[in-house]
This record gives sequence, structure tokens and C-alpha cells, in this order.
Amino acid sequence: MRIFSGNAHRALAEEIAGYVEQSLGEVIITRFPDGEVWVKIVDNIRGQDVFIVQPTCYPPNENLMELLIMIDAARRASAARITAVMPFYGYARQDRKDQPRVPITAKLVANLLVAAGANRLLAMDFHAQQVQGFFDIPVDHLFAAPVLVKHLRAKQIPNLVVVAPDPGGLKMAYAYSNMLEAGLAIVAKQRRSATEVEALNLVGDVKGCNAVLVDDLCTTGGTLCAAANLLKERGTQRIFAAVTHAVLTNQAIDRLRDSPIEGMVTTNSVPAKDWRGFPVEVLSVADLLGEAILRIHSNQSVTSLFNI
Ligand code: R5P
Repeated sequence: MRIFSGNAHRALAEEIAGYVEQSLGEVIITRFPDGEVWVKIVDNIRGQDVFIVQPTCYPPNENLMELLIMIDAARRASAARITAVMPFYGYARQDRKDQPRVPITAKLVANLLVAAGANRLLAMDFHAQQVQGFFDIPVDHLFAAPVLVKHLRAKQIPNLVVVAPDPGGLKMAYAYSNMLEAGLAIVAKQRRSATEVEALNLVGDVKGCNAVLVDDLCTTGGTLCAAANLLKERGTQRIFAAVTHAVLTNQAIDRLRDSPIEGMVTTNSVPAKDWRGFPVEVLSVADLLGEAILRIHSNQSVTSLFNI
């Protein structure tokens, strides 16, 4: 078995390799002067079980292209099996045709990965679980919940309500509320543009409660901040956020700092940022991914990785 990393998040790949008690495989990734990506896998990987770690976070197109080219290089180097390890699957939100003449880019990315030569995918907290169906190769889809819920439980926040900041997040919020034995509420949101979100209404009892907003992803912070403002209006006391993938823009950090959200807990599925004073706790999912890699390699079940 060999584990390789692209440039997207080498620190996470190193942590995963450490868990598996390996060092990362040697690969050269450079750019030609015109920006084209060039890859050379230095190690001999003939007949090997190859795992390539590359979340397609910012800059998504560069990171995706690197991943595709690394997969192609591994295939042409006669790897026995190639698993794309994508702790964050960029483009996952574009998973349906919700207006005329728009693409389904999450499916296009799936097609590209398979066309490049990926035999399996290991991913975590897709925007929607149905994205698994875009692949006709095996997909191991992990949840960050075992890591995040353990942390939230340890905080022992009294009178807790878990809040989905939009209807799409209801399933995730419901699972968290069960695991935390907390109440459940849901915000109805309307997205006005890529950066502007309006929280229209709230269903659930939040008055006097402490809330944790849970979401798969935060990018501009519009969704979380709109929901938090509405929660405050409805009499919620303290508000926290738990987000698997903190792909935060600078605007998001400013918004979060100015919002009623006291702090966020997230994972290292994408590289950490300078949070500029906004309290963020980053939990590692390297062991979870490392254990999944070990189990995939030895054809064992990964079911126990979902246990809390
Ligand atoms: C949307 O359905 C997702 O689950 C997130 O709520 C959303 O993508 C977050 O984006 P932003 O932070 O830009 O509002």
C-alpha cells in the first residue's frame, strides 16, 4: 500500500500516513511556465494499492486537476488499485439541475475521476449523500460526526438545541440532535446570490435554549450568520457552530466575527486559515481516514467507523 499527497493539504496526508505507519510516497508535482500541471510518481508502484489524498478545496480547479493527473500517472505506472481520498469533495453543491441550462458539476467531477482511472473513492460528509450515486465505483462515505459529536458532548452545553441552518441540513441536524440528546430546530433559508442568504423562518422551540448550528460546509458564512441572527431574534441564548468543512472566505471570517455565533468547531478536512480572532477549534479526522484506508486495503468493513 502506498499513500501519496497532492498539494491541496499535505499536512493532513502526513497525519494520515503517520496513523498508517508509513511515510508519504514520493511524487514530484510542478507547473510548466504556462500553468500546466506536471506530475511524476518517483516510487515504483507496480501492483500496489495506491491512495491519493487531495481535498478539492480552494483553489478547487488546481487541486482537482492535480488529482486527476496524479490518478492518470498512477494508472500508467501499473498501480493495482487507485483510491481517490477526498476529505472534502468540491463542486458537491452543484448536484442537480435547479434552473434551465445549468450543469451538474458534481456528476461531471465524478465522471472525470473515473475516466482518469480512480477505482474507488474515500470521502467525508458530501453536501448530499446522494452524490454517492454519481459513481459506479465503490464509494466509502465517512461522517465527521463521531469526531464532532464527541467534542460537543464533552462541552456539556445545557438546554441544547441542534439547528439545521437550511432544510437540506435537516437529516444531519436530526442525527446530531439524537446523538446529543438535544432538541431540534430548522431554519428556512432563501439564497439571494452566492454570498447573500436570507433566513425566512424557523421551526422548533429555541427560546431560552443554547443552540449549535450544524452544517456540512461554510464558505461565505451567509447561511450560518443569517440563521444565527434569526435564532437571536427568537430568544436563543448562546449560539455555536459545528461545520465539517470550513472552506471559509475572508468575508466569512468577518461575518462570523460580527455575528452572534460565539465559536465554531470544525475538522481539518481542508487546511486551516488565519481565523483573525474568531474562535475556531479544529479537530483532526486523520485517524478516521487512516483507519478507513487500512480497512479498505485489507478488505475489512468500515461500518464501525460510523459508531459514536
Ligand atoms: C448549503 O446547502 C450548504 O449546506 C451550506 O449551508 C452552504 O453551502 C454554506 O455556504 P455559505 O457559507 O456561503 O452560506
